[in-house]
Amino acid sequence: MSESSYKGDSPGKKVTRLRLWLNIRAMFRALKTPYVGTLVLAGEGGDLSVLKAMGTDLTTVVAIDYDPFLIEWCSELYPNVLSLVGEAGETSEVADYNIAHLDFCGGIRKAANIVTFAKVARNMQTHPALIALTIQKCREGASALGPSRLLADVPRATQERLFKQAQESGDQVGAHIFRGNRFDSRFVLSHSEARLRSMLPINETTIKRGFYRPRGLGNLGHALIRADAMRWCAEWLLAAWGTPEPIVLRLIGTYTYHSETKHDHGQPYLTALYAVVPKTAEQSVMAALDAVRIQRFDSWDKKASRSGLKPTALELAKHIPHIQVAQMLDIEHVRIEDWVVEGVGGTAPFSIEDLIQIPWSGFKFNG
Ligand SMILES: C[S@@+](CC[C@H](N)C(=O)[O-])C[C@H]1O[C@@H](n2cnc3c(N)ncnc32)[C@H](O)[C@@H]1O
Repeated sequence: MSESSYKGDSPGKKVTRLRLWLNIRAMFRALKTPYVGTLVLAGEGGDLSVLKAMGTDLTTVVAIDYDPFLIEWCSELYPNVLSLVGEAGETSEVADYNIAHLDFCGGIRKAANIVTFAKVARNMQTHPALIALTIQKCREGASALGPSRLLADVPRATQERLFKQAQESGDQVGAHIFRGNRFDSRFVLSHSEARLRSMLPINETTIKRGFYRPRGLGNLGHALIRADAMRWCAEWLLAAWGTPEPIVLRLIGTYTYHSETKHDHGQPYLTALYAVVPKTAEQSVMAALDAVRIQRFDSWDKKASRSGLKPTALELAKHIPHIQVAQMLDIEHVRIEDWVVEGVGGTAPFSIEDLIQIPWSGFKFNG
């Protein structure tokens, strides 16, 4: 039996995961950088199913899970994938990849997720690289893991040096991390919120798009500050561990969804995508990504999350063999056939045409 608390896929998750991989592929092509490999958390193989359907050479894919049952499961389903039991941040040291998705259990309050995220970003083999994460938008507060969990691998002298540096530059998040007390996600999020407010005004458009409510943050705003907080903490950890040159994470997409199903009330989640780049290359990489105009920041509520699966499948099925569409959404082939007979109801919640070439010519990370 699996020891994982993971309850399986919801319609919102299936559509978001596919959207993410289509977006990763389009972004990666825009970067014109050689593909090395892909790292994912194994779970029940949802990411692997999408990668297989997209024609990825599975010998370039590494799936990691600390649950041996799930690794056995994925090894049987996807024998060409390198499936490894272990902690993802640690185990990423032996993997070759420049694309990663960490579909975590829990949220930013779990300081261990920040450490894993930063380690997986650090161990990417070439730059520019792409890393995505999926986390819960759960209640925030102090990490349960006691003092200095973020700093387990940081020598005392480095902590002191970076604490001073952060204080001198007025970076309260850095100072919070290197002060060495218990990590408090609420504190970091309050600074990410201040950053968002300084960059994005409150007006009719930003309220309509879900960044803000007339009072407080909207659904997308809550997601964005979490995505930013992960980046902020990870960049400080990268600085503390030392990389050959300073690395930055640029947020290039954020989507929210709700995991409600017929059988489960579900939770709100967010998926965020980042470019991992040396500071010196930041401008040119962002220019290449801006040119393809596919960075998206939007949010789906419960209803949109539940109702998006069928129209997405039907839209894809117009261009791509049904068997492949079923695998990309990790659903049974027969459901697609039934839906095709029933006909469309609703529109896909994201633009598929922006992310695949029509007529469709197959999926490749390079080309
Ligand atoms: C939400 S599920 C992943 C689902 C998977 N992406 C899919 O699409 O089926 C998260 C999985 O990652 C594993 N996990 C979470 N954090 C991990 C970590 N730091 N190292 C290794 N495995 C981890 C959990 O055991 C769980 O099976």
